[in-house]
Amino acid sequence: MKITHDLIERKAGLLALLVILTISVGGLVEIVPLYYQRSTTEPVAGLKPYPALNLEGRDIYIREGCYNCHSQMIRPFRAEVERYGHYSVAGEFVYDHPFQWGSKRTGPDLARVGARYSDEWHRTHLRNPRDVVPESNMPGYPWLAKTPMTGADTAAKMRALRHVGVPYTDADILGAKQAVAGKTEEDALVAYLQELGTVIKARR
Ligand code: HEC
Repeated sequence: MKITHDLIERKAGLLALLVILTISVGGLVEIVPLYYQRSTTEPVAGLKPYPALNLEGRDIYIREGCYNCHSQMIRPFRAEVERYGHYSVAGEFVYDHPFQWGSKRTGPDLARVGARYSDEWHRTHLRNPRDVVPESNMPGYPWLAKTPMTGADTAAKMRALRHVGVPYTDADILGAKQAVAGKTEEDALVAYLQELGTVIKARR
């Protein structure tokens, strides 16, 4: 039997099989090399794992759902690069588990927000965004400043991340609890925000 276009279009099963085959081969060719390319697997120069306090801040960012309104991935479009800075590169995210690229952009991209504002600005903004940006529709998170952390789980989180390749040292892990205990959730979130994108900024 000759496989003609006519036949493929008449036999739904055959069509489905060939579609799956084509997409699988195409997918493998596109995806597999990403696991081996240096540009996607090696950290950019100067990238360090999140310090203990920032790591906790990142978990608060995830817990509070900040990613529902904020992306952390600057696309290589002129409008975005002029507004936010150098577009994001894969090597910036190799220690992120999971990455926070996001897809909803109700608020600005935060990939390079680090060092753009003072700590005080962030604190005021997080408690009530309208105090610094009158037209803002971002919700306030006033309880973060009133919620102290114990740091009880921080070392365990860092050990878990070490298993998946984040190069925390024993000293980092030993000092984790002390770096976090007594700080508020707001302290941690601000520390996290203030570091975002600063590796690339420092190089430009
Ligand atoms: C309902 C959507 C929404 C949520 C949820 C949200 N934001 Fe925002 N965010 C915005 C909007 C809109 C702006 C722009 C106006 C402003 O600056 O307040 C903004 C601005 C910001 C800015 C200033 C960015 C800049 O470049 O000027 C930061 C920092 C920020 N948000 C952090 C956070 C954090 C951290 C969280 C989670 C605790 C969060 N946002 C949750 C909508 C949101």
